Amino acid sequence: MAVVLITGANRGIGLELARQYAAEGWRVHACCRRPAEASDLVAALKGHDGLVHALDVTDGAAIAALREALDNEAIDVLINNAGVIGGERQDFGAVDYEAWERTLRTNVLGPYRVSEALADLVGASERRVIANVSSLMGSIADNGSGGDYIYRSSKTALNMVSVNLARELAGQAITVLALHPGWVRTDMGGADAPVTPRESAQGLRRVIAGATLDRSGSFTNYDGRPLPW
Ligand SMILES: NC(=O)c1ccc[n+]([C@@H]2O[C@H](COP(=O)([O-])OP(=O)(O)OC[C@H]3O[C@@H](n4cnc5c(N)ncnc54)[C@H](OP(=O)(O)O)[C@@H]3O)[C@@H](O)[C@H]2O)c1
Repeated sequence: MAVVLITGANRGIGLELARQYAAEGWRVHACCRRPAEASDLVAALKGHDGLVHALDVTDGAAIAALREALDNEAIDVLINNAGVIGGERQDFGAVDYEAWERTLRTNVLGPYRVSEALADLVGASERRVIANVSSLMGSIADNGSGGDYIYRSSKTALNMVSVNLARELAGQAITVLALHPGWVRTDMGGADAPVTPRESAQGLRRVIAGATLDRSGSFTNYDGRPLPW
């Protein structure tokens, strides 16, 4: 049976990924900051092979505790989905520096640290994929408008971390992907976003399922289209 571990699985894209993988018969390790409040997640996993874990991706001790709890179980697909938008004050001259630091800790150090802690479990699996949920907002080539210093810089850094991990983990035949989920109708994406969580998660799962080692270190849209760095 295939095993997936998802961070930030209590709402938005992470919740939908957990729901879809569970419905397809995968064993789901669904991580969130506050399991006691994750009623949607618990409902989505009901009747399926799913476990909810407490995990704040900025907390090194919590990551170590998760590693312990997994008891050396192989992880086919690790999805570093948890992320934050970075707050309201992201414009030149009015940037919130504390929010910037918090965002980098969540969006960059978080996925790196979780990957570092769990890489051997991914390497011991059959599929061996680490998928980092990035954003087209992190693309330097696509940046025509500027602004959003905090969020953009965090996802650009995550892209570099993804490529570095791809190089690092090639020896263990682990495929590392940076993925853009689309502009998705979640708390983060807002009500005007054109893509539903369902469509996004379906697309991301398709890209992950088709991942091969020769595509490790690539940046891909949820519909499979390659994206410019
Ligand atoms: N929606 C879009 O249009 C869009 C576009 C491009 C990229 N993305 C990326 O897609 C991913 C998911 O976004 P979304 O739209 O589903 O956002 P969302 O609805 O705001 O959900 C974000 C998730 O991340 C979790 N999270 C935040 N900080 C965390 C931390 N320190 N530790 C653990 N979990 C944490 C949240 O948990 P809490 O409930 O505890 O806060 C929540 O589960 C993010 O990485 C985002 O940057 C989204």
